[in-house]
Amino acid sequence: MIHKFPFIDIPGFFEDTDYSALSDIVRTLPDTGHLLEVGSLFGRSTVAWDELLTAANKQWKITCIDRWGKIPGFHTHPVPERILSTIRGNDIKEVLDHRDAHKLFRKYTADRSIRSIRVEWDENFVWNEQMDVIFEDSEHDKAYLDRALPYWWNKLKPGGVLCGHDYCEDFGVKEAVTKLVEDTGSELELWAPYCSIWAIHKP
Ligand SMILES: C[S@@+](CC[C@H](N)C(=O)[O-])C[C@H]1O[C@@H](n2cnc3c(N)ncnc32)[C@H](O)[C@@H]1O
Repeated sequence: MIHKFPFIDIPGFFEDTDYSALSDIVRTLPDTGHLLEVGSLFGRSTVAWDELLTAANKQWKITCIDRWGKIPGFHTHPVPERILSTIRGNDIKEVLDHRDAHKLFRKYTADRSIRSIRVEWDENFVWNEQMDVIFEDSEHDKAYLDRALPYWWNKLKPGGVLCGHDYCEDFGVKEAVTKLVEDTGSELELWAPYCSIWAIHKP
């Protein structure tokens, strides 16, 4: 099936190098499973997962969580150059004009079977299913991730993968992931060049 919006067209912060790292991860996954993405924005990384799983003939369910609220930087006019220069994809004008990020997410993912839940995650959020893969790309600061990563680690099946974006010193991701690795005695896998994908397999 040809989709109206391929990964390459969707605005967001997922790079081509992230895409190829993801294809390496996808190759290691079983044929069926359930992926949870936390922090989807307009769906660029979501569609990357969907495209790569489909291309690998894997039948996976995808669920996305996001608050789809105001995005820092996008609601100031003009949008600062440091934000603009980091957005990939097309349709950038639509992003700059948007009033409802969830509506845009639904537009870009309309012809795919992707479930979305609009919620602001915190520890009180109830999630009962044990997952095969959880991809965390929401807040990038250490204090938040020190709460979120152990929470999501506990929602993984044995053999499942907790992974995320932006592993580097520019954010708190590297420190928080390092702490989780130490606390759980697990092994870190880095899947792409500087500031990209990290992954941990749950024993
Ligand atoms: C860096 S953007 C995600 C980029 C996206 N994965 C892409 O491919 O372009 C971070 C997203 O996380 C969401 N977010 C941040 N904190 C959150 C929270 N506590 N609960 C739910 N969503 C959150 C924001 O609304 C935003 O859409």
